[in-house]
Amino acid sequence: MKDQYNRKIEYLRVSVTDRCNLRCVYCMPKDGIKQVAHNQILTYDEIIRICRICAGEGISKIKLTGGEPLVRKNLSELLCRLKGLEGVEQVTLTTNGVLLTEQIEDLAAAGLDAVNISLDTLDSSQYKAITRRDELDKALFGLKTVLKYPNISVKVNCVILPGINETQWIPLAGLAAEKHVDVRFIEMMPIGLGKSYPGSSQQEVLEKLEEAYGKPEALSGRFGNGPAVYVGFPEFCGKVGFISAVSHQFCGECNRVRLTAEGFLKPCLQYSTGEDLRKLLRDGAADKELKDVIKKVIFEKPRCHRFSAAENAEENTEDNLELKQMSSIGG
Ligand code: GTP
Ligand code: 5AD
Ligand code: SF4
Repeated sequence: MKDQYNRKIEYLRVSVTDRCNLRCVYCMPKDGIKQVAHNQILTYDEIIRICRICAGEGISKIKLTGGEPLVRKNLSELLCRLKGLEGVEQVTLTTNGVLLTEQIEDLAAAGLDAVNISLDTLDSSQYKAITRRDELDKALFGLKTVLKYPNISVKVNCVILPGINETQWIPLAGLAAEKHVDVRFIEMMPIGLGKSYPGSSQQEVLEKLEEAYGKPEALSGRFGNGPAVYVGFPEFCGKVGFISAVSHQFCGECNRVRLTAEGFLKPCLQYSTGEDLRKLLRDGAADKELKDVIKKVIFEKPRCHRFSAAENAEENTEDNLELKQMSSIGG
């Protein structure tokens, strides 16, 4: 369906858990966040019901996120059921990759279409400093394993952390030289803990990459479902992309809404507006009532984010804090 600004909303990001097996410094505090009790998290039946109604309203792409989605038991069961919904064309996953090797066979059998793996560095001591865990080898093995599945397309996400991972921008982009993988550099968004990390822009990364790999060709047109724009370096198998919400706001082309693990439907990553679908579900709402609420949230989607400091501070009140953490929002 279309929102009030005539944007076609066809993509739902579903966070299946707020838990994570890593503790990335820009996303989670060292000791983790106050965990939501299991009974406060949507069940698979509840997620399916919401997604079925959304699919009836034109959502054809579903992204599973977290926290770390693979820490939730039997994710492949949810995936398989989502793939079976009428109108759902694509179900994809964004993961840190640590548990991918052990789950990929089931996920592939369930029909997974694509995986994005978050990897901010290829250096193990840097990885430990950023994620506060020693899991780089597992994440890399996850990447290697998923590349063996020809029906699953693979992308790598690297958050740009100047002074922390800039020595890794060239080697990370280099993954796309030899492998069929797109590597995307993400500007830090001032959300949750991300607010305390200075970001660098796509331009700074591009300049470094040009020194190493030559002048890239700008690739026009839309690749994939989302906000990334891509360039191609000579002889590379995969593309290099940028997700630059700060320097190149892309809200005018936004196609998505989000469902948190607790069942809150958020029309925009940055705002705490939306509706508590879990309450409606558990109070016995009929499909028609749920559908009307979902349509209202989609229609009222804000025009754009408000990342400028003053406006952002306004959004960051105590009562909406958990709706402002990346680990609950799912990116
Ligand atoms: P696909 O193209 O469907 O694979 O996914 P994607 O690139 O949109 O999503 P992914 O989960 O890999 O997220 C990559 C980065 O984009 C993360 O930092 C997300 O927070 C960010 N992102 C995804 N969607 C949006 C959005 O609508 N707005 C903003 N500002 N950032 C987004
Ligand atoms: N800004 C940009 N990207 C972020 N991610 C987590 N926090 C932020 C932030 N503040 C990224 C993760 C993962 C994706 C889902 O979101 O690194 O790649
Ligand atoms: Fe869409 Fe909000 Fe992201 Fe802008 S910030 S692209 S409106 S979700």
